[in-house]
Amino acid sequence: MVEITPLTPVFGARITGLDIACGVDATTMAAVREALDRFSVLVFPDQHIDDAAQIAFSEGFGPLERTRAGAPGAGSAVILLSNIGPAGEIAPPTDKQVLNNKANRLWHHDSSFKPVPARASLLSAREIPAAGGDTEFASMRAAFAALDPAEQAVLRGRVAIHDFDWSRSRVDAALVSEAERSQHPPVRQALVLEENPHGAALYLGAHARSIEGMGEAESRLLIDRLMALATQPAFTYAHRWRPRDLVMWDNRAVLHRATPFATTTERRHMVRTCVAGAAPTLVAAA
Ligand code: OGA
Ligand code: MN
Repeated sequence: MVEITPLTPVFGARITGLDIACGVDATTMAAVREALDRFSVLVFPDQHIDDAAQIAFSEGFGPLERTRAGAPGAGSAVILLSNIGPAGEIAPPTDKQVLNNKANRLWHHDSSFKPVPARASLLSAREIPAAGGDTEFASMRAAFAALDPAEQAVLRGRVAIHDFDWSRSRVDAALVSEAERSQHPPVRQALVLEENPHGAALYLGAHARSIEGMGEAESRLLIDRLMALATQPAFTYAHRWRPRDLVMWDNRAVLHRATPFATTTERRHMVRTCVAGAAPTLVAAA
């Protein structure tokens, strides 16, 4: 029997009583899926999984995204967030890794710059630093619920433009290659997602450049205000990793970001899989 223990009064739950490496039966999978809808972030402590077991478990939630060109693990179902080199030593970070790490420290939804953005992500801690390198989450369902009904009504049906080139260029102008730029033109996303059975969520994050029908300045004010609402302490959870934690989150309900650590002296090796979205956000919101 799985046990589900809430992590905060608002969202997040710890799931115990299952061994993912041994395979998870259909009843348990259904309970986990329901918990994901309800709690948005699930922490599975002490899971001894390798890449194959992580992929197999992740596929239980739907087809996986392939890692985009230009990222470590490109073309496969896993993406590595790691400072460990091929010989097992701490590798001097490439410029691109340093910049990617900087980008991960901005609140974001994974792949919101894709026409059909990710549903869920699963991140497993294979090696963690002694300090820092936490992952923080912010509930976009709590943020939406905190708005007054008049504002909720105004925001429903609005469209945000998510622009990978623009968001990465804000981190560093050299971060986006020509190939990435042409692969990821700006996309339209619903500002409010209605697909969660437990309540609607705001959908913004670092790639959200502007709101359709609003000027740049007015867009920025609105986006910044909603992001500040969502990322206030009462609506956030900081995950302090322990070795062999697997953490899963609903990208259509929470934002997340990485916190810094001593990348040249401490080891951090994380493996991520990403469950593809079943539908574009605008269809889901209609
Ligand atoms: C991710 C991510 C943050 C971290 O895996 O998508 O943003 O703490 N990770 O590594
Ligand atoms: Mn991410």
